[in-house]
Amino acid sequence: MQNKLAAGKIAWRSPSNIALIKYWGKLPVQIPANPSLSMTLSRAYTEMTLEFQPKDEKSGFPLLEFMFEGHKQEKFEKKIALYIQSLFTEFPFLDDYSYKISSSNTFPHSTGIASSASSMSALGLCLAEFLSCFSGISKKKEPFIQEASRLSRLASGSACRSVYSGYVIWGHVPQIAGTSDEYAIPVPFKINPIFREMRDAILVVSSKEKEVSSRAGHSLMEGHPYAGPRYEMAMANMLDLSDALKSGDFDKFTRITESEALNLHALMMSSHPSYLLFEPNTLNIVNAIWKFRKATSIPVCFTLDAGPNVHMLYPATNEITIRKWIGEELVKFCENDKWIDDRIGTGPEKLL
Ligand code: DP6
Repeated sequence: MQNKLAAGKIAWRSPSNIALIKYWGKLPVQIPANPSLSMTLSRAYTEMTLEFQPKDEKSGFPLLEFMFEGHKQEKFEKKIALYIQSLFTEFPFLDDYSYKISSSNTFPHSTGIASSASSMSALGLCLAEFLSCFSGISKKKEPFIQEASRLSRLASGSACRSVYSGYVIWGHVPQIAGTSDEYAIPVPFKINPIFREMRDAILVVSSKEKEVSSRAGHSLMEGHPYAGPRYEMAMANMLDLSDALKSGDFDKFTRITESEALNLHALMMSSHPSYLLFEPNTLNIVNAIWKFRKATSIPVCFTLDAGPNVHMLYPATNEITIRKWIGEELVKFCENDKWIDDRIGTGPEKLL
């Protein structure tokens, strides 16, 4: 092994992201069945500290201790320990240390607000930085972020998109240069000004832990009767959405984004066994958005993650009107009137 490090601490803040073109279905190991395109968020984020120390053989210290918001979290601890162990073949010296991770979120976990995206990207960034202390691993910015994206992907697919600001693509698209199944990249084209200051009002219909995890949902795509057409459609939507982002066509953006969201849930409803993550208030909000858009022609649309909450997307120019309308018409559909006033974000930040 290379130069052994003394004990140390690394900390990153990393945001969540919302997929506009959805990753749903995968191949080993964490290779997406179709490319996805996301918008990085700003206020929904994880802060994570990774403490490491050389393993003392005699102390029998565990590989990992994981604390979530000040409490030991055994479920995540096991998951993350398995993930770190899965990296031993590639980085054998990871096994020479023990780790303590402390993590906290600005939003409730397992609500369909992609907590795995923010937390696993924070972990990917901490690990990429730890690994970069050993010789042979680049410290230059782009390879560093790309490596953080790759490590994040191995922990949770959607996490690999959170390491960049703005709009991000993960998955190989033959027509878009630089795209890869291994890591995400920032969109390699100029975004029309209308999409640069986007807002995302996350309308929290329910903060209950969801009953079917995304991991289980992905595996239900194996042998799914609509898998083939879905993957073709995602590829076509990726190209159309890229055109809309370049040209500033909000109607086209809306058509594709809403269709992707409803398709994702249609895939859940038509899998074996089938399941449903909508709540009645999810549909109440969707209907209210359609009605409002028709009546006012204000550009506003929705997307959904793997959960009941609604992400309502709109350009910042309409912020005052939309906020007022949320208060008057939409908060009544939210759990305890809760919504998160989020926006397009600038990406992760190193804290320590
Ligand atoms: C619906 O990234 O949570 O949010 O790779 O198994 O951890 P794993 O799945 P995950 O799946 C996210 C699915 C989605 C769509 C998306 O973010 O693209």
